[in-house]
Amino acid sequence: MDTKTVTINQPKSLSAISRYLGQNVEDKSSRPEPESVLEYFRRLRDGEDAGNRKEVVSGNLEKWQAFDWSVHPKITAAKRVIVDWSRNHIDGGGIILSGDCGSGKSHIAQAVAAARGPLARFVNEVELVKAIQATYGGKSANTEEAIISRLQDASLLVYDDLGTYEANNLEWLQGIYYALFNGRKEARKATMITTNLPLIDHANGSPLEARVGARTFSRILGQVGRKEFFIDLFGVQDYRLRMFE
Ligand SMILES: Nc1ncnc2c1ncn2[C@@H]1O[C@H](COP(=O)(O)OP(=O)(O)OP(=O)(O)O)[C@@H](O)[C@H]1O
Ligand SMILES: [Mg+2]
Repeated sequence: MDTKTVTINQPKSLSAISRYLGQNVEDKSSRPEPESVLEYFRRLRDGEDAGNRKEVVSGNLEKWQAFDWSVHPKITAAKRVIVDWSRNHIDGGGIILSGDCGSGKSHIAQAVAAARGPLARFVNEVELVKAIQATYGGKSANTEEAIISRLQDASLLVYDDLGTYEANNLEWLQGIYYALFNGRKEARKATMITTNLPLIDHANGSPLEARVGARTFSRILGQVGRKEFFIDLFGVQDYRLRMFE
């Protein structure tokens, strides 16, 4: 049995999830040395880190550099966690950025995908659903399987804005989530998710679980593994509103 798979019974509680994640806190990976994050990504890009072949990692750091990590203490703390994850888990782990609109989730996710290079794929939920729906009816040369399989092939999949598509048929969408996230977990391929949905809402259990379904949620928990890789950015002000200040 896969020891990382967990089923959490209703009602969901933060402590149940914490207990599960706590089991995996003792990770063998070492924490990063204090060093410039930019320097780290530069080395990653240039293939100087063990195991990262130069031809695989040819990323672009512009997005990473363009981000202001000092806007909020949660963002500053997230930077260190993301670098830690990128260094030690980018070959198979999961990480989730959740927070309100404009907190910078998509920017960070795009920056990580760009830094990783061409084998990383960035997909937005609304665009993915539209692309899949466009294959229905037999007139398209593309198929749902081909779209999913291209995403499965990516060395890093960044799934942006989970929860934003207004689903009339949630069961159908949950089938896509399962195919994607279970597939990547089984293949031990890294996945980053951004979402407005909290992992836990004390009044309503887990909005994230309600969206993706219990089976997929369990697998996502298993792939993320460590509590710190659920990055909570709720409370970070909407950067877009700065334009009006
Ligand atoms: N700390 C930051 N430094 C520089 N630009 C930022 C920062 N935070 C957000 N932005 C910019 O603000 C805009 C909104 O950010 P982003 O799209 O990443 O938000 P989000 O958290 O994904 O929001 P949503 O939940 O609505 O998708 C983007 O243009 C992004 O580049
Ligand atoms: Mg976004």
